[in-house]
Amino acid sequence: MKKTQEKLFCLIGNPVSHSLSPVMHRAAFEAIHFHACYHAFLVSDLAGAIKGIRSLGISGVSVTIPFKEAVIPYLDNIDENVRRIGAANTILNQEGQLVGFNTDSQGFMRALRRVENPKGKKVIVLGAGGAARAIVYALVTQGAQVTILNRTREKGEKLAQEFSCSFASWEQKDTIEGDMIVNTTPVGMYPHTDETPVDASHLSRFNLVVDIIYHPVETKLIRLAHHAGLKTLSGVDMFIYQGAEQFRLWTGLEPPIEVMHQAVMEALKDEA
Ligand code: ATR
Repeated sequence: MKKTQEKLFCLIGNPVSHSLSPVMHRAAFEAIHFHACYHAFLVSDLAGAIKGIRSLGISGVSVTIPFKEAVIPYLDNIDENVRRIGAANTILNQEGQLVGFNTDSQGFMRALRRVENPKGKKVIVLGAGGAARAIVYALVTQGAQVTILNRTREKGEKLAQEFSCSFASWEQKDTIEGDMIVNTTPVGMYPHTDETPVDASHLSRFNLVVDIIYHPVETKLIRLAHHAGLKTLSGVDMFIYQGAEQFRLWTGLEPPIEVMHQAVMEALKDEA
């Protein structure tokens, strides 16, 4: 039987060495016998990288820090999510046309919906960076009442204004009331695993505590919430679901979620 031509997929970012996208996507391709390879490229010249994607005929690309916003002007088309969020984490090469998508918001929503329906809920979002944009967009679209708290006031206020939600100062994180709290800041991320944006004594005001950090799988924030008997959601599920949506866009096939989950958990175990 003639073998189909191998399709090429890649990640562009800087840094990329700790990304789990290669492990996750390779495992998924292998599981469904999709003839493809996935490589992580450490990019310093974004324009050159996009040229390379076009000329080499790379079928699909994951885009990570710091290019999610910067990549947009280089694309031929973007979907509605990218337009609203202002960031793309996925490129699909449609017969030479590079189309940008954002699967971070879908990834977050899919993960969240497993534990909570955010409609009508009061949600406190810590941080106002690129990740927060996708999450605030997802929450607002789903009918949540969002309040953004950010260390740098102007940045938080700007995001709140853009998505018509509320802003509160960073100092209020220990007193503000809500149904759930979502940490989108890097506080608690490896190697600073003994840090938490909110202490145990201030967590019991919430029903659900979400951390979008996935390294470590259980941040101090999640551990404290867990011990307090609260519902929790770690960043691993969001990461896997955003990857699964990329996989669906690129292949048109149902992503093997379990395989992707297993590959990511194995890799995180090795890194711990
Ligand atoms: P990402 O794309 O991962 O969201 P980012 O765009 O650099 O990364 O945003 C990081 C967010 O975490 C910002 O809101 C940042 O707050 P500032 O706007 O004040 O910079 C927040 N952040 C980073 N380190 C923090 C810390 N030690 N304490 C509180 N907030 C922090």
